Amino acid sequence: MVCVEEYAVRVLVTGGAGYIGSHVVRSLQGSGHTVAVLDDFSTGSRRRVGADVPVEDGSLLDTAFVEASLRRLSADAVVHIAAKKAVEESVADPLFYYRENVAGMQSVLEAMVSAGTRRLLFSSSAAVYGASATSPVTETSPTDPSSPYGWTKLMCEQMIRDVSLAHGLSWSALRYFNVAGAADPTLADRGESNLIPKVFRAISSGVRPQIYGDTYPTPDGSCLRDYIHVNDVADAHATVLEHMENADLCTVYNIGTGTGTSVFDVMTAVRLVTGVDFECDICPPRPGDPADVVADPAKIRAELGWASQYDLGSAVESAWKAWSDAPS
Ligand SMILES: NC(=O)c1ccc[n+]([C@@H]2O[C@H](COP(=O)([O-])OP(=O)(O)OC[C@H]3O[C@@H](n4cnc5c(N)ncnc54)[C@H](O)[C@@H]3O)[C@@H](O)[C@H]2O)c1
Repeated sequence: MVCVEEYAVRVLVTGGAGYIGSHVVRSLQGSGHTVAVLDDFSTGSRRRVGADVPVEDGSLLDTAFVEASLRRLSADAVVHIAAKKAVEESVADPLFYYRENVAGMQSVLEAMVSAGTRRLLFSSSAAVYGASATSPVTETSPTDPSSPYGWTKLMCEQMIRDVSLAHGLSWSALRYFNVAGAADPTLADRGESNLIPKVFRAISSGVRPQIYGDTYPTPDGSCLRDYIHVNDVADAHATVLEHMENADLCTVYNIGTGTGTSVFDVMTAVRLVTGVDFECDICPPRPGDPADVVADPAKIRAELGWASQYDLGSAVESAWKAWSDAPS
């Protein structure tokens, strides 16, 4: 058995004040790593960052600032989570997404190369697969993003591959599926774009949640997605980082459960957990929304021994508790 001190590293987590980043910070601290957060608080919150975590307050786009942060921490690794993530916003304002996500990635890579930081974990997304892949999707399924947001993630992956070849980085891109749940109320996802908080917001204000399309070629006609508990996502980072301590990686992993859940299934789980018996409005399908995006998570299980532990019920239950308890 490896003891914590043997692989503890100094990690700069970009986006560590965000929903997923704050869970990753906790998980890495729990594994014995020394962690600092770099965040511009554009969508993040100071309440999510523990008092014991140093904060570098500024933007990724400022390469000199990122490099100085890496040098201050003597960072061994970057976990690059910071990004803009709202698909509809990326369609309306693609240049903003290319600047924040793609130029942001370039800036992080430049800073890493200058500071000599060799290890990188990158938050990618199932959005790289788009509509043309057949579920369950493996890491070798065709990529065909249906939004500028998805393209930014795919471009970042390619940039990392190229820079790794030229400068010898060890890296892994983790393609998260639909992340849900919360470890505690301070870390809750109150975002505008994810289904579960959207449903909570609707039922809390007495409005009917919307379902976009009920005539997809799926068992109940609504879209199928793979909902993964944020604790599982955070744990995957600790697992990959631990592996990188012993061997270089240059690879992509799906971070999902392998189980497809329909939008109607999510509504049923929310009714059960909240005790609120609500009706939904059926709206037209959103352009570019794939019918079915479910992970095949076999690769990371086979190579690193990671597998999800939580089910949809626990994700919805923890998200509801956090939603109900969190300061707004
Ligand atoms: N939430 C999901 O279901 C999901 C699914 C797949 C992939 N992802 C990816 O996971 C990552 C985190 O998502 P999240 O849900 O935690 O989002 P979030 O908005 O809660 O967190 C993003 C964090 O990054 C920070 N940030 C954004 N732009 C920055 C910049 N230019 N400089 C410094 N900090 C900046 C924000 O302030 C925030 O703290 C993103 O890369 C997202 O694309 C999320």
